[in-house]
Amino acid sequence: MSDSTDFHTRLKHYQSRVDKALESCLPPAHSDNHQLAEAMRYSVIGGGGKRIRPAMVYAAGTSLGVDEAILDIPACAVEMMHTYSLIHDDLPAMDDDDLRRGQPTCHKKFDEATAILAGDALQAHAFEILASSELEHRRQLEMITLLAAASGADGMAGGQAMDLAAVGVKLSLEQLESMHRLKTGALIKASILLGAMCSTTVTGDELGLLGRYADCIGLSFQIQDDILDVVGDTETLGKPRGSDQKMQKPTYPSILGLDASRQLAMEQHQQALSHLEALDARADTLRQLSAYIVERRF
Ligand code: IPE
Ligand code: IPE
Ligand code: MG
Ligand code: MG
Ligand code: MG
Repeated sequence: MSDSTDFHTRLKHYQSRVDKALESCLPPAHSDNHQLAEAMRYSVIGGGGKRIRPAMVYAAGTSLGVDEAILDIPACAVEMMHTYSLIHDDLPAMDDDDLRRGQPTCHKKFDEATAILAGDALQAHAFEILASSELEHRRQLEMITLLAAASGADGMAGGQAMDLAAVGVKLSLEQLESMHRLKTGALIKASILLGAMCSTTVTGDELGLLGRYADCIGLSFQIQDDILDVVGDTETLGKPRGSDQKMQKPTYPSILGLDASRQLAMEQHQQALSHLEALDARADTLRQLSAYIVERRF
């Protein structure tokens, strides 16, 4: 089997593993608040999410010898947090998009209030399940703090606020990079670190290297997302191509052009690999993940 077949098999394995775990930890569709539960399940399970953040949790954790079963909870937590960010990102007050993961966005399928609440509830649920893990309490608290910081004003939500404030504004490259690092990079970094923190033997040096690796793949992920918004097609993407241009969003292609954006994503990929040099073959899936991020078509 070639390395890339191997990687795709592994990615599929992580996807089905987290899908099963998500199925059991989301509120049942026939719960008391069935419309809210339905909307949460629709957005998390209903469409075709790549589950790349859960894959990062599994890949980082297993590279340090952690059992996959222990990684299920942080994998579900980051996917719930991410899906909440997508539901709100699509709202009319934000990117105003109608299609997500190949199906109508949450506010189109249900209504705006339900979509807002589904996002709120998914965020709360992410913390609730992290607090229910069987890890040592101190480690649990560190993980909850990390996910909170990555999602709040100095993380994803802060980046989203910068994104909205930047509509129609010409940002410098430095400003664009800070925005991308917050709105997308922070949660990606948290995914890698949460996986690593499930190891009882991880060292500060290893966390440092993985954190620097994650900074690179977080940035390359959003650069590629910006590129795909220009060159992708709606059906493959499962979300509307051209959304950034429609909303006059500053993006890498709009500021640098496509070729330079591709080159920058590739540079981040190479840098990501350089941070893994000290880690042995067990980090191979992390290496392949970085390549996948810049090569993906959706
Ligand atoms: C899209 O993320 C939103 C960004 C942060 C760029 P993904 O491309 O991971 O979306 P899904 O989870 O596969 O739908
Ligand atoms: C989204 O960036 C970042 C989030 C925190 C959700 P985009 O607005 O570019 O994501 P897509 O392209 O709609 O998935
Ligand atoms: Mg957006
Ligand atoms: Mg969007
Ligand atoms: Mg986008």
